[in-house]
Amino acid sequence: MVLAIFTETENIHTKQFLNTYKIMGYLNLDTEKTSSTAKELNILLADYHLYYQKLRNFHWNVVGHNFFDLHIKFEEMYDDAKVKIDEIAERILTLRYQPTSNFTDYLKMSNIEESSAGSKDLDMVKILLDDHGKLLKQMRKVVETADKADDEGTIDMVGGFIGHIEKVSWMLDAWSMKRGDNHPEV
Ligand SMILES: [Fe+2]
Repeated sequence: MVLAIFTETENIHTKQFLNTYKIMGYLNLDTEKTSSTAKELNILLADYHLYYQKLRNFHWNVVGHNFFDLHIKFEEMYDDAKVKIDEIAERILTLRYQPTSNFTDYLKMSNIEESSAGSKDLDMVKILLDDHGKLLKQMRKVVETADKADDEGTIDMVGGFIGHIEKVSWMLDAWSMKRGDNHPEV
């Protein structure tokens, strides 16, 4: 009899656990809220694919006196983007959603547009700075959505991306400034 009561109590606990698991998943996060984060991460994934391919385009097609500077810098940047692409896709999987995986969809979803192969070196840097603004906007959307879901793991990952791309933007901006141009004093 005691055993029967124990089993019934145990069953209630198991049912409660399974119900909570269904809503919260193994991350103990509300899956309805994390689905919004996964959607925003998928847009960021599309953005990063367009950005990555643009860096390869610019790495191959840059010409002129800045060739060595920019050819090497763009390679460094696409190597970094490649790592981030994988991290974003695997974060979506960790949240138990499907990362978008083909270019037809990336082209439809991305905030970033493709560039032709014929841009001048300074224009390439300006185009990339503009893309960084778009990436930052999308990353901040991800953080805002993840914050509503108490999803600290996503916030931490994307927060690191933000700091990094802001620093690269400063460097590209400094590179494109004229000698003697200064930043405003605070
Ligand atoms: Fe190369």
